[in-house]
Amino acid sequence: MNILLLGSGGRENALAWKIAQSQHCNQLFIAPGNAGTLQHGTNINIGVNDFEAQKTFCIENEINMVVVGPEDPLVNGVYDFYKQDDTLKNIIVVGPSKEAAQLEGSKAFSKKFMQRNKIPTAGYEEFSNENFESGKKYIAQHTLPIVLKADGLAAGKGVVICNDYNEALQVFEEMIINKQFGEASSKVVIEEFLNGIEVSVFVLTDGKDYQIIGHAKDYKRIGEGDTGPNTGGMGCVTPVPFMDDVFMQKVETKIIKPTIHGLQKENLIYNGFVFFGLIKVNDEPFVIEYNCRMGDPETEVVMPRLQTDLVALFAAMDNGTLQDANISFHENYYATVVAVSGGYPGEYKKNMQITGLSNVQMKNDSMIFHAGTKINPEGNLVTNGGRVLAITSSEKNITEAVNESKKILQQIHFDGMYFRNDIGYEFQ
Ligand code: AMP
Ligand code: GLY
Repeated sequence: MNILLLGSGGRENALAWKIAQSQHCNQLFIAPGNAGTLQHGTNINIGVNDFEAQKTFCIENEINMVVVGPEDPLVNGVYDFYKQDDTLKNIIVVGPSKEAAQLEGSKAFSKKFMQRNKIPTAGYEEFSNENFESGKKYIAQHTLPIVLKADGLAAGKGVVICNDYNEALQVFEEMIINKQFGEASSKVVIEEFLNGIEVSVFVLTDGKDYQIIGHAKDYKRIGEGDTGPNTGGMGCVTPVPFMDDVFMQKVETKIIKPTIHGLQKENLIYNGFVFFGLIKVNDEPFVIEYNCRMGDPETEVVMPRLQTDLVALFAAMDNGTLQDANISFHENYYATVVAVSGGYPGEYKKNMQITGLSNVQMKNDSMIFHAGTKINPEGNLVTNGGRVLAITSSEKNITEAVNESKKILQQIHFDGMYFRNDIGYEFQ
């Protein structure tokens, strides 16, 4: 098969690495890709949301499958674009329809979906300009902390956890009246704070059957000890020690099955990954959020741990045989540690030269995944984003896997480079 992968992050580097290993993969193209995806296929200069340019490319290159990495094109309807076009409709698209992608694209949509399908989640109410005053009253009567969420996509900045009422009122006004996130914050979900430990679970589904392809614990805060602002993710580990059979069974019965059943019942077309952002509260799983794609950096540990051929799974998803697929995992623990640009998640510089990569000493099964990197016109590898590299290692326990990744990072340099030293700290 000729495959087009959309995206340019560490997630797409890990997906490209996994797809390229498949016996079903003939040619792999990545649009637009990064300096790391170049090792596994051909980067093409087409944006993830430029559907018309993708169409021309798909026809010229006889593309059979499109794998969508990030949420943006999914929420913008990339699936529907391909399926509604006579020349593209036979291409397998890995990703949900525009309607189903609202599970990520609209917090209000996903909360209502969970309520209808009796999926455990935090209690909430939804407010807009029209019931702004009731929202203020709702906040005043709420217990602290209060969680405020902009309804739409807000580049990971749309969730604010407030520890006092004035702050909550200010954030509420900022979002709705001052349109802090534009249309994305014209609606706001206010929900109860859940206290527990988070874990990301990944499923591949055709909207009827599903397979669990992995899980991971992500470290979202910039600072060690989980302090400072939220980032896209600073590191991950898998498997997570508390994800034992008993807890996994609860996740499957109370969350995964009702979700897939809900998709089917509500005729939501879904052929792709579901990312369940869960929180474990007193041994019970709750959904914090759905995403309609793989996580980043979760993919950088989930793909290396997954033994099964990914392209074969995508094909099974497409031809209705997903339930017969055999999912197997490598035995070791996996950790990834992300190196970011100084200043991230705030302002940071780009085009910093990255050195040390070509002569890194590392074990055979360690991997250097690129996120924000590119080759500049002079032919040098430079930084091109907040998250720059994700280093994945595999060992017989979490501590050794994390240490191995850190050992590799110590041999790499760019101005302002920062990484967390304490990934996996609860499990060491
Ligand atoms: P989200 O964009 O919905 O994933 O939210 C970002 C982060 O905010 C989550 O990963 C959690 O750490 C935190 N968060 C969101 N909702 C809640 C909640 N109801 N209770 C506690 N933490 C939350
Ligand atoms: N690492 C969290 C995410 O991909 O949303």
